[in-house]
Amino acid sequence: MFSLQFFLLSLPLLSLAGHGSPSFGHKHRRVPVKPRSANYTIEDSYQGNDFLDSSKWTFFSDADPTHGLVNYLDADDAKSKGLAYVQGDGTTILAVDNYTTLSSGQSRNSVRIATTKSYNSGLFIADFWAMPHGCSLWPAYWSVGPNWPNQGEIDIIEGVNLNTVNQMTLHTSADCAMQNSLTELVSGNTTIGNLNCASSGSDNTGCAFTDTDSRSYGHGFNLQAGGVFAHEWTSNAIKIWFFSRNEIPSDITNKNPDPSTWGTPSAVFNNDACDIASHFSEHTLTLDITLCGDWSGAAFSSSGCSGTCQDTVADPSNFDSARWEINYIEVYQSS
Ligand SMILES: *[C@@H]1O[C@H](CO)[C@@H](O)[C@H](O)[C@H]1NC(C)=O
Ligand SMILES: *[C@@H]1O[C@H](CO)[C@@H](O)[C@H](O)[C@H]1NC(C)=O
Ligand SMILES: *[C@@H]1O[C@H](CO)[C@@H](O)[C@H](O)[C@H]1NC(C)=O
Repeated sequence: MFSLQFFLLSLPLLSLAGHGSPSFGHKHRRVPVKPRSANYTIEDSYQGNDFLDSSKWTFFSDADPTHGLVNYLDADDAKSKGLAYVQGDGTTILAVDNYTTLSSGQSRNSVRIATTKSYNSGLFIADFWAMPHGCSLWPAYWSVGPNWPNQGEIDIIEGVNLNTVNQMTLHTSADCAMQNSLTELVSGNTTIGNLNCASSGSDNTGCAFTDTDSRSYGHGFNLQAGGVFAHEWTSNAIKIWFFSRNEIPSDITNKNPDPSTWGTPSAVFNNDACDIASHFSEHTLTLDITLCGDWSGAAFSSSGCSGTCQDTVADPSNFDSARWEINYIEVYQSS
C-alpha cells in the first residue's frame, strides 16, 4: 500500500524533471520544488500521566530478558516506591531506586514500560528532558514486535555505562542487512557499524549506526536539557533524527512535522537489502532502564567504569541520574 502511494507521489517530480524547471531560462538551477512529503496527522500523544495509565502503557515486571541486575516493578509498586511519577511541571519520571543499599550481586528495582497499542508504521517524536546514564546503566528507548526477532526491533536510543555516543540499531529475523553506502545518506557525525541486522544463534549484534555527537547520549544529552528523537518508519526505510534542545525544528514544536525539511538523518535503514515491510510489524514503544546484563555488564570496564558492575549496582548513590525525564512522545500517521 505505502509503496504504491510513494510511487504515485513520485510521478509529478519525475515529470517535472523531464520537462525542465518551471522557472524559465534558469537551465542550471535545480528544480525549485522540494519533494512532496507525506502529510502527517497526529494519532497518539503521550504526556504526563498517560505514561502511568494502564490503558496506554503497561509495566513489564517479568525477569529482564537481557539478564540485567534489575527487578522490574509492576505499576503499583513502581508508583508507591517513587520510581514512576509525574512532576509538578508535567514531566514524567521513570527512575531506578537510588535509596536502597544492596549487597553485591543483588538486583535493584527499576522500570520498563510499553504502549498497549502497537504500530505498523508512522512518525514517532519523543522529547526527553534527560535520560539515565552512568556506570552499570543500560537505558533504551525502542520498539519491538511479538515473537522476537521475527517482527523486528528498532532501537532509537541506546547505550551503556559512560558512553558519550548513541547507538541506533535494528534486530531482525533472517535476510535483512544494510550496506556501507548508507553512510552517504546520514549526518557527518554518524558512523555505520555492523551491517547484518539478523539475529541468529547467540549473535544478536544487529545492524547499527552510532551518533558520535556527544549531545545525543547520556551526560552530554542532559547538559543540553535533552532534545528530540524522531523516527519515521515506512515500508521503504526507517530513518532517525536527533535534535538537541536548541535545534528542535519549529514544525515539531508546532505539531505539524514535515521530515522532508529536517535535513540529513542520524540513521537511515533502507530496503536495498532488507524487506522492511516483512521484517517489522506490530511494534509497541518501550522505555526501560536495565543494569549490567548482556551489554552493560559485558562492556563495563571497556566503557569507562572501574570495579565491578555488581558492586556498582549495590550502592544507591550511583543512581541519582538514573532516570528518564519525559516531556512527551507523539505518534503521527501519513494522511
Ligand atoms: C498535503 O496537504 C496539502 C493541503 O491539504 C495538499 O495540497 C497536498 O497535496 C498534501 N500532500 C500529500 C503528499 O498528500
Ligand atoms: C556534530 O556534532 C557537533 C558536536 O556536538 C555539533 O556541533 C554539530 O552540529 C553536529 N553536526 C551535525 C550535522 O549534526
Ligand atoms: C535520588 O535522585 C534524585 C534525582 O537526582 C534526587 O533528587 C534524590 O535526592 C536522590 N535520593 C537520594 C536518597 O539520594
